[in-house]
Amino acid sequence: MNSQFEQRNEASVAGGESPSGSVGVTRVVVDPAVATWKLVRTLGLESAVGNVEEAFLVGEYQGALDLRPPGEHGRRGIRADFPPDRRPPDRNGPPGGRQAVGGMRNPLVRAFGKRVDGILDLTAGLGGDAFRLAQAGHRVRGYERNAAIYAVLASGWERALRLGAVPPLIAERLNFFHGEGGDQIGSLDRANLGVYVDPMYPPPRRRSAKPRRELQVLRALLGGQVDAVSLVERAREKAARVVVKRPHHADPLVVGANFEIETKLVRFDVYVNPERMEAVSSE
Ligand SMILES: C[S@@+](CC[C@H](N)C(=O)[O-])C[C@H]1O[C@@H](n2cnc3c(N)ncnc32)[C@H](O)[C@@H]1O
Repeated sequence: MNSQFEQRNEASVAGGESPSGSVGVTRVVVDPAVATWKLVRTLGLESAVGNVEEAFLVGEYQGALDLRPPGEHGRRGIRADFPPDRRPPDRNGPPGGRQAVGGMRNPLVRAFGKRVDGILDLTAGLGGDAFRLAQAGHRVRGYERNAAIYAVLASGWERALRLGAVPPLIAERLNFFHGEGGDQIGSLDRANLGVYVDPMYPPPRRRSAKPRRELQVLRALLGGQVDAVSLVERAREKAARVVVKRPHHADPLVVGANFEIETKLVRFDVYVNPERMEAVSSE
């Protein structure tokens, strides 16, 4: 097995990035009740002392960390739930009524196709897309550079594993790391590798188009993303296929996409690098 995709069942901390990693300068503090968590200490997040109303707060809800924006510290925050996709009870579905939605019907999965061997998710966020790809059979490594978001992601993943909410085969295929995704690109030397980039969106054109709460909180914390173009350009040189998630209202981050897949809500721009594919067939 390639060392880049070794199996590890826990989220781990990698790299020596700045603890915040965010583009904007936003204060994040941790509720002292959860400040003793090993993960929180390892990430160097600041414990809440004094007046922290203006800060984002990392708290805890039902055994996992969550992130609460300023002014909403008393309300449940955003968190990483696995499996991420649920649909309402299906009369023909399993007892309990909630089931995951995935497979080749998923447009993101279709964007990667069947020949990609291993995927690096350079912008893991709350892990939903990485999970969908692993659910479809890909081995996935997800990188999240923001320490607070990584804390929420890693604790949500750990909770799901602890509760047995993730089928073992998917758990084996998916790993999350704290770190700058761009740092991984230089060392990519495998053929047939897929890279996924889902950067923070530009604000919507229509004011009425309000994004989901998760995206609102992420945008408030991170602001715009300044380095997404170079991330995609560098990934295109090394990967067999790069998939970039974009909103309908935004132009492609980089010109030259080979094709795109549209859904009701988003578009996936797909860049194929035949040289990195051909290397596989001659191996
Ligand atoms: C729109 S969210 C991604 C959502 C994700 N696809 C999901 O399913 O939850 C973008 C995330 O990527 C992270 N990010 C952006 N650029 C990054 C980079 N160069 N390395 C690591 N993480 C990055 C941001 O901190 C943010 O959490």
